[in-house]
Amino acid sequence: MKKEHFLFEYQVYDAQSDLNVDSCGLFASAMGALKNSYSPYSNYPVAAAVLLDNGEVITGSNQENAAYPSGMCAERVAVFAAKSQYPKAKIEQLAIVVASLDRGVVAPCGACRQVLIEYELLQEDTFLLILGSPKGKIYTFSGLRGLLPFYFGPDKLKK
Ligand code: THU
Repeated sequence: MKKEHFLFEYQVYDAQSDLNVDSCGLFASAMGALKNSYSPYSNYPVAAAVLLDNGEVITGSNQENAAYPSGMCAERVAVFAAKSQYPKAKIEQLAIVVASLDRGVVAPCGACRQVLIEYELLQEDTFLLILGSPKGKIYTFSGLRGLLPFYFGPDKLKK
């Protein structure tokens, strides 16, 4: 038996203004999309903004439903919209923000991590993930694979 380790790094910023200009703008776009959240069941508004390599910014917000599992997380709404409109564009950055001031930073659910990793693999390039809230610290991750060790990838399905 031998032990193996999995390590990944992330950055922590004290404020939005500490981010570089692109990330700061994307964070602001995500914040602006919070008002479009439809989250009457959880009362947990989340929004996301995607920056593509063609310069487009696509936003999304969580959309809930009375049949609970039929709703969709903000980041999947944004990323699916972006990749539907610009299938060839690469994702450069994704900001996910939560409106809540007292429940810490938002963390993408497992299903969203799985979806995001697939696009990273597809574009053969990592992208920057930015997580934050209106007043809290901001976390950035270069590459999604650190967030889901032993993820299930398309290579598993190759014949
Ligand atoms: N939610 C997101 O939209 N993104 C996340 O990263 C975490 C959770 C949404 C789903 C649901 O509408 C609400 O937050 C509570 O789970």
